[in-house]
Amino acid sequence: MYRHGREEIEAVTKVLANGQWFRYGDAAAGHLGEAARFEREYAEAMRSPHVGMVSSGTAALMCCYAGLALGPGDEVIIPGYTWIASALAPLHHGVIPVIVDIDESLTLDPAAVERAITPRTRAINPVHMNGLACDMDALREIASRRGLVLIEDACQADGGRWTGAERLGALGEMGAYSFNFYKMISCGDGGAFAARSREHYERALMFHDGGCIFRPHAKELGIEFFCGINLRGNEILAAILRVQLARLDAILDDLHRVRRRVLAVIRSEGLELVPLRGSDATGTASHLGVRFAHADDAAGFCRSLPTLSGGTASAHRPIDSGRHVYRNWEPVMAQRGAYAQAADPFHHPANATALPAYHPDMLPRTLDLLARTALIALHPDQEDATADALGAAIAASARQPAHA
Ligand SMILES: Cc1ncc(COP(=O)(O)O)c(C=O)c1O
Repeated sequence: MYRHGREEIEAVTKVLANGQWFRYGDAAAGHLGEAARFEREYAEAMRSPHVGMVSSGTAALMCCYAGLALGPGDEVIIPGYTWIASALAPLHHGVIPVIVDIDESLTLDPAAVERAITPRTRAINPVHMNGLACDMDALREIASRRGLVLIEDACQADGGRWTGAERLGALGEMGAYSFNFYKMISCGDGGAFAARSREHYERALMFHDGGCIFRPHAKELGIEFFCGINLRGNEILAAILRVQLARLDAILDDLHRVRRRVLAVIRSEGLELVPLRGSDATGTASHLGVRFAHADDAAGFCRSLPTLSGGTASAHRPIDSGRHVYRNWEPVMAQRGAYAQAADPFHHPANATALPAYHPDMLPRTLDLLARTALIALHPDQEDATADALGAAIAASARQPAHA
């Protein structure tokens, strides 16, 4: 999805030449490096008071759990359609993921969340899959009524808007972003966490940098030191990300433009589309979802679209994406939470009272929705004519009789 060019090469060359590659290297001299600058700029762009750059989206999620001081005895509610990191990050802190249904938007179903709350629930983890925003109003309402925190996963929705003033990832207590290979903006592998409160930010900052106690900024921290780990970003990656961030709005505008054109072409077809949440959340939707009455129809659509578009378009059923479907997270399903039983949250005494029972068929509604949906890839670089042709191919493919 991300765009790149000469500017990234120049930015990296500058950092390579100055030899200052470690983000905290020059901090004592009061030098504001690339990582610190990126954090400021990203915080401003995401409308978040505090942002920390880290090595991946998974690292960012782990920082959220650390920032919120969650651990053994706590549960987090996650959707059954997401990347496995949604389960891995809490498990690495001893927190048990409770996996629940998505709704027709392909994101966390607020009613399923409500039903899954137990006395141990501490957090809800909405995931904006494919850039499709979760129902954040409903989830915020549940969280505030039930005294829970929101850990918002915007790893597939960098820069997405919720309302005019609010950005995805910055709506909950903490949020996570990814800059890996598949994302809106990228540095190969990278991530960022966002925090609303200074306390959560400081804990995440300390966790992500095991050397924090030795940094010049340590004396400014208002929390007690604890043992963190190394999930740091560096100056080279940050230099790339600063350039990438400058490209983000144009990418989202173009994605929005392509979606609008496709929608205009297919408007009269009477297709059931995967609904979008939020007043202006369409900007990050990287796929257009079409829902069919039967799983076979969705599969047939995905087969015929490439042919009918002359090889320019592709679609997949999310059930076939494999890795994003809870039942394929083998170590999670088997409740093997670590390399050794002594380190395994599923065997931690604090989690002994009521472990959730995982089973491959435990979320039939999720499996049904994923099987009856076709996700058509949109790309910001598609010209208007290509987007119109995509719309026409979608219409033609959906009209194909009985996809068996
Ligand atoms: C929804 C979601 N959450 C978390 C992650 C983890 O991000 P990363 O690969 O940067 O660790 C990903 C990565 O693809 C993702 O799609």
